[in-house]
Amino acid sequence: MTWSEYHESTKHSLESLRRTPPSLDWANMPDPFRHYEGVPVLDLPADPPSPDVSALAVLNGFSGSAPAGDGPAFLSQLLFYSAAISASKRVPSTGQRYALRVNPSSGNLHPTEFHFVTRGLKKWPAGLYHYRPSSHMAEQRGVGDFNLNPGGSDSSAPVTFVLTSIAWREAWKYRDRAYRYCLHDMGHAWQALALAAQAIGCDTFAFGHFSENEASQSCGLPQDEWPMLIVELRGRSIPVCDEQACPPVSYGGHANQISTETIVYPAIEEIHMATKLNRNAQECNSAPEPPPKSSGEIKLPLTASSQTPFGEIVRRRRSALDFQGGTRSISLTQLSAMLSVASRPFSSDFAAARLIQLYLYAHRVEGLQPGVYRVWPDRSELEQIRSGDQRVAAAGLSLGQDLAGNACVALSMIGDLYRAVRAYGDRGYRYVHFEAGAIGHRLYVAAEAFGLAATGIGAFYDEEVHRYLNLTPKQGQVVYHFAIGYAVPDSRLSA
Ligand SMILES: Cc1cc2nc3c(=O)[nH]c(=O)nc-3n(C[C@H](O)[C@H](O)[C@H](O)COP(=O)(O)O)c2cc1C
Repeated sequence: MTWSEYHESTKHSLESLRRTPPSLDWANMPDPFRHYEGVPVLDLPADPPSPDVSALAVLNGFSGSAPAGDGPAFLSQLLFYSAAISASKRVPSTGQRYALRVNPSSGNLHPTEFHFVTRGLKKWPAGLYHYRPSSHMAEQRGVGDFNLNPGGSDSSAPVTFVLTSIAWREAWKYRDRAYRYCLHDMGHAWQALALAAQAIGCDTFAFGHFSENEASQSCGLPQDEWPMLIVELRGRSIPVCDEQACPPVSYGGHANQISTETIVYPAIEEIHMATKLNRNAQECNSAPEPPPKSSGEIKLPLTASSQTPFGEIVRRRRSALDFQGGTRSISLTQLSAMLSVASRPFSSDFAAARLIQLYLYAHRVEGLQPGVYRVWPDRSELEQIRSGDQRVAAAGLSLGQDLAGNACVALSMIGDLYRAVRAYGDRGYRYVHFEAGAIGHRLYVAAEAFGLAATGIGAFYDEEVHRYLNLTPKQGQVVYHFAIGYAVPDSRLSA
């Protein structure tokens, strides 16, 4: 199966929804927490301090600093503000509570796992670890010098993350389309990590182009975990010492079985194979042609500001279940700020030339007529594509989800899949979705910084969106929807 066959076969339409009505086997729901049993589990100090920088400053590229500390304190702060549990919700009918995390996830199913390799951290043995969000601890899966070697040379980074996907967690609910959501989730997790690292004074670089067989082997990953991104952290705020690491000794650990039965979705296996790099990881990695450039008739104003601290924002970030319709608007300067941080460059080997274009459905923005606009980020301009009330259209295109019409703005993220594949081969299919998730994550954090809320929307009628926006496949295809506005309070939520 090629990427385009997979993409085509997982498009939503009225017909496809009729063919596969939703049904969930609750008894076989995958456990959202992976544990590696039988290995030492190391404590990460509780209640790490909030980074001393505002969320908007971080989104705009400014770094914070970490309080002088040791390896455990550093790792605790990094993970508490990127991947930890941050709230819970109560199911009204049963009274049961379930956990929500700093990073969002389609269906709250959390396919992404965080593994990391450390070397030379103060008071923290060099080795290979898996983050256990359920107790904010680290499972020590090996000690010594685990060199992951993502960019083809020996890495000297003191901390390197390997983010993996367990596709079955998503497939349980979303079936064949789930691979797309795993990739989005990966993009969100990557940005959650990158922003938290920056808030405590580190630079990150993400590698999407690496041999996953080698990474799987180095990390001793079980069959159901697929490595997707390697993220290196560097910076003076990382507390290092001169310790010489010994050769790696792997303990592995026994991965828990996450459900009674795993159902194999052949389309997911096939798209994963099609986008795998089995050969030399350097192959098929040329910079894509630059994105199209044009202009619009509306100049976005200077951006609004917000001083709310990064830690407070990312730990209180939540997806809105629905938005308050009514008359309350957002300002054009807030919209301008959110679009500006969504368009900043990413530090990675696959997102240098942007592969996503944003289309905006403006419902209630002060000083902006309702309509559909294409965003031209280089010139901070909007080009009007359609005029008039878009609320019914935005909700209808998002599989009839009211939240896309009740929000102040909704977005279609259009992926330049052909340009991606020309540059990176079929692997480019992943990169378009990573980028969409990463943009979505920046929008979540920016919206929260302005006292708004956001929701990622993975469900939409693909071809209807193309028709509505007048797009041919060569111009791009919709890969993600998004909505931002004033959240309807959720009484099931507690911090
Ligand atoms: C890739 C992605 C797709 C999503 N799609 C939808 C959607 O179609 N409809 C919806 O209401 N929420 C959607 N969500 C929001 C999730 O349901 C939400 O992130 C999850 O329940 C966890 O809640 P939290 O974001 O508050 O942590 C999506 C989230 C992500 C990351």
